[in-house]
Amino acid sequence: MKKIGVLISGRGSNMVALADAVRDRRMADAEIAVVISNIASAGGVVKAQERGIATAVLDHRGKTREEHDRAMAAELRKHEVDLICLAGYMRLLSPWFIREFPYRILNIHPSLLPAFTGLNAQAQALEYGVKFSGCTVHFVDEELDHGAIIRQAVVPVLPQDDEHDLAERILVEEHKIYAEAVSLVLGGKYKIEGRRVLEATESL
Ligand code: GAR
Repeated sequence: MKKIGVLISGRGSNMVALADAVRDRRMADAEIAVVISNIASAGGVVKAQERGIATAVLDHRGKTREEHDRAMAAELRKHEVDLICLAGYMRLLSPWFIREFPYRILNIHPSLLPAFTGLNAQAQALEYGVKFSGCTVHFVDEELDHGAIIRQAVVPVLPQDDEHDLAERILVEEHKIYAEAVSLVLGGKYKIEGRRVLEATESL
């Protein structure tokens, strides 16, 4: 059984999508071992508890970034996680944390990277005037929203869209590709060449 640790800061809909994929056996022999939030009032904490998933609230305030990340790493190790999924975790991770778990941390970002990194990616896309946007699941490296790309999905940007409309359309796709990407990584049927994540096929 592969164990997943999920880091959140908010409502946790991507965490729920991963939990649903586990429940529906769309994820090869995996379970969510722990959900960690840096915000006590995050809606995702209650949603995890309702699903019987262990939760921990680790407040980042009053600690250095690395101190906080060391506390998270200790909690993740306690639950013996194989993979760490950032799901609306709205803090930068320290280089220390990222080096502790090489190619073991995934992130989901609501744009077609490398476009529109950082906060408010959907608003950035609208303001820029792109006709298509989407979402990206990638390995986390030491640069923001930068690591090797595992999955992307595209959605149209419609003329009447506001930020909420676009975010909702993207979110539907986030929930699909995050479970697919986690399943791929846990299954191990891929290889990495430079920045390219290649899914195993007969020809690899
Ligand atoms: C999602 O849209 C996720 O892609 C985004 O925050 C939202 C979290 O929603 N993440 C980022 O912008 C990270 N830079 P959720 O809490 O319902 O999963």
